[in-house]
Amino acid sequence: MKIRPVAWTRDGVRILDQTQLPQRETYIHCTRVSQVVRAIERLQVRGAPLIGITAAYAMALARPTPTALKKAAQSLIEARPTAINLSWAVKRVLEKTLNGGSALQEARAIHKEDAAMCEAIGRHGAALKAKRILTICNSGALATGGIGTAFGVVLRSKAELFACETRPLSQGARLTMWEAKKWKRKAQLIVDGAAATTMKNQNIDLVITGADRIARNGDTANKIGTLGLALMAKEFKIPFYIAAPSTTFDPSCKTGKEIPIEERDPTEISPHFPAYNPAFDITPAKLITGFVTEKGIFPAGKVALDAQRLPK
Ligand code: MRU
Repeated sequence: MKIRPVAWTRDGVRILDQTQLPQRETYIHCTRVSQVVRAIERLQVRGAPLIGITAAYAMALARPTPTALKKAAQSLIEARPTAINLSWAVKRVLEKTLNGGSALQEARAIHKEDAAMCEAIGRHGAALKAKRILTICNSGALATGGIGTAFGVVLRSKAELFACETRPLSQGARLTMWEAKKWKRKAQLIVDGAAATTMKNQNIDLVITGADRIARNGDTANKIGTLGLALMAKEFKIPFYIAAPSTTFDPSCKTGKEIPIEERDPTEISPHFPAYNPAFDITPAKLITGFVTEKGIFPAGKVALDAQRLPK
């Protein structure tokens, strides 16, 4: 089963428009960098590793002069602030092209490497032997270059899934449930407010989420609501894991305080009233049992050290 949210075609970058899911599977064809920037801003393509991959392909649309490449890189990096994978991938392609290499070849390599990292994360996460997993947002094929991170663990564990709907933009209700159905996996949707009751009454044995950026001390930025899940998991004595590739670790951030949090348009919440709409929150390392990475599982206390050794 293959879900292809981003692909390079003869026309440029083809993006599955995730804002139309699950009702319609429609594609956007981008031939200009600015179109990709807009698609990332509008969340037509989203998820930390996948926006990095998409932006990497977008670099192949820029004119191959140093000035144009640097300008393209800047606009792509500024499209969304929290996920480090975006700037990591763009900087990698920029460096390659400024040294005479091919943007497209580098983008393809980043895509392929991410797919392999997802497989490894799924394999390592399966060792946790979870039977009933709770997660938030979407961390599957629609967020990565492969089977996903936290969702990859669900797939490879053959676990039953409880998916938080993930207000305000319903990435859980629209995207994770869509993927679970495609994979024919047992999955139930819950409203975000039912997370505590679900942990208490449904024998959840693992709470696992993806990540947008992980600081050196293990503090982790992920979709708004993740911090709440970590606090609840502690109360109910359920292990709380983060699944992420090494490209999500940011050694330049000492703690979560240094991670920029995207605030989105209040109208995403209400067209009538003022609203506070942070897209992500920071879960402190002390609430995280461990990190499932392509290199294996690291206890949270050790990640600060080991993240340094994860290849960048
Ligand atoms: O705003 P989004 O939909 O891009 O947020 C995505 C998340 O928070 C994911 O959990 C994260 O990017 C990890 S995806 C493997």
